[in-house]
Amino acid sequence: MTRQTRWWMDRTAYQIYPRSFADSNGDGLGDIPGIIGRLDHLADLGIGLLWLSPVYRSPMADNGYDISDYRDIAPEYGTLADFDRLVAEAGRRDIGIIMDLVVNHSSDRHPWFLEARRDRDSPFHDFYYWRDPAPDGGPPDNRRAYFGGPVWTFVPEVGRYVFTLFSPQQPDLNWQNPALRRAVHDMMRWWLDRGVRGFRMDVIDLIGKDIDRDLIAEGPYLHGFLQEMHREVLAGRDVVTVGESWNVSRDTALLYCGRDRGELDMVFQFQHIVAGWDETHGKWRPRPLDLVAFKKVWADWQEALQDDGWNSLFLNNHDLPRSVSRYGDAGQWRERSAKALATAVHLMRGTPFVFQGEEIGMTNAGFTAITHYRDIELINMHREMLEQGLPEHQFLEGAGITARDNARTPMQWDAFPGAGFTTGDPWIAINPNHDRINVAAQRDDPGSVLAHYRRLIALRKRHEVIVHGRFVPCLEDHPQVWAYAREGNNRRLSVLCNISSDPARAEVPPGLAVRGTGLIATAGPRDAIAPGPILLEPWEAVAVLGAPG
Ligand code: GLC
Ligand code: CA
Repeated sequence: MTRQTRWWMDRTAYQIYPRSFADSNGDGLGDIPGIIGRLDHLADLGIGLLWLSPVYRSPMADNGYDISDYRDIAPEYGTLADFDRLVAEAGRRDIGIIMDLVVNHSSDRHPWFLEARRDRDSPFHDFYYWRDPAPDGGPPDNRRAYFGGPVWTFVPEVGRYVFTLFSPQQPDLNWQNPALRRAVHDMMRWWLDRGVRGFRMDVIDLIGKDIDRDLIAEGPYLHGFLQEMHREVLAGRDVVTVGESWNVSRDTALLYCGRDRGELDMVFQFQHIVAGWDETHGKWRPRPLDLVAFKKVWADWQEALQDDGWNSLFLNNHDLPRSVSRYGDAGQWRERSAKALATAVHLMRGTPFVFQGEEIGMTNAGFTAITHYRDIELINMHREMLEQGLPEHQFLEGAGITARDNARTPMQWDAFPGAGFTTGDPWIAINPNHDRINVAAQRDDPGSVLAHYRRLIALRKRHEVIVHGRFVPCLEDHPQVWAYAREGNNRRLSVLCNISSDPARAEVPPGLAVRGTGLIATAGPRDAIAPGPILLEPWEAVAVLGAPG
């Protein structure tokens, strides 16, 4: 267990989606003063890092992932003075703030783009990717955007098409242009100088693209740009960086976060998520959990980054459905399944990221009509899929399981109308189950999901084996049980979780057997896991630390 230890390695991160976290002034939108007012909730959980989804000035086509001023705060969220106060108040609680860096694209209202579209000869024109129309006046090619429609958006002022990989409101920034890269570096230093402790880098694997050769994800220039960014901005500063990449695999992971690469500290990878999607319809036709395949992805990543690099550990974020609905049992076993899933994820090696509301077992939104949704991706894809002939009820069924808005309903603080989130009209419906599922109801209950997260987060700080221990997968072919051991300094931490609503029988192999102290139990307590047959209750999760055997 001798490896370099960094200040953030025994910390657990928490993601806030500002629009849905806490509204201080009753306009129905979460805001920075609201976050400040709830920092004690994070401190009480033991959180050490706070990933803040975008709070920059933005027309909010994609809820802030479309930035029109990288050096200002959206007025609906507050002011730079509020932001500085947030950094200071978080710092007093030893919580480091990680900003969301969204630089694959800007908003189409960013002054750079306004200039770029006004005049072909403007130096800002080349901050974006432009191509002339095809001979028939149509788009240069027929590639599709991630949020539906063509990847090319026509701009009449200059008579050209601009490359828009997400939505037309999010034109891609041209990283080939050194002046653009310098502007991004300057902006990053400006935030670091304000006291932020790092960045979560939005779709960072897309910045190195070569659009003409259609090399978009993990394109040929990616690692050169990340190394340059490290040299120019990050080197010599003790910060933490995590790059979002839907395309990174265990084979390319160390290119981003290998010790000697001088790029990032870790990546958000999504192979465990994508494993549950349909081959052709993707997330709109989700498949039920295949635990064996799912566990294998996790184990592969643990092994790939065993000696170098670092994992991020998560089941939830603002783009994903609620884990208790997607992988757990949101009905009868909601609390126990939320705890079991958290146990399996948090005791692996890496940095756990908790998404707001996950720590109380919040569930999917339960939306049944298109009018309930707010997300640009969903609204665009709804139109597109229906045009292609998919029956609406089928689309809505898939959306009910995997739509991003499932994670974006307001944080459930209490049982009152407004859920303690707002006194006004929320921008998206509050889940009616806030009368049962809320922070106030769980705060002082030692058996709550919240208390369970508090315990897991504290354990990581207390036990080095959770941070650095070697990962050993067990019972890999078991269709119900997720099990592994962590080892180091002659100690073993054994983790055994029944990921199902039925009892599970298993045969504990010698490599999982342990005698010592029970750290976690979602059913009856156990302080040993004996070799041989074991019967686990539905969603029973247990972690025991001690001597092997
Ligand atoms: C990332 C964000 C997502 C956003 C997209 C475009 O995947 O997490 O919310 O819509 O990038 O910025
Ligand atoms: Ca507000």
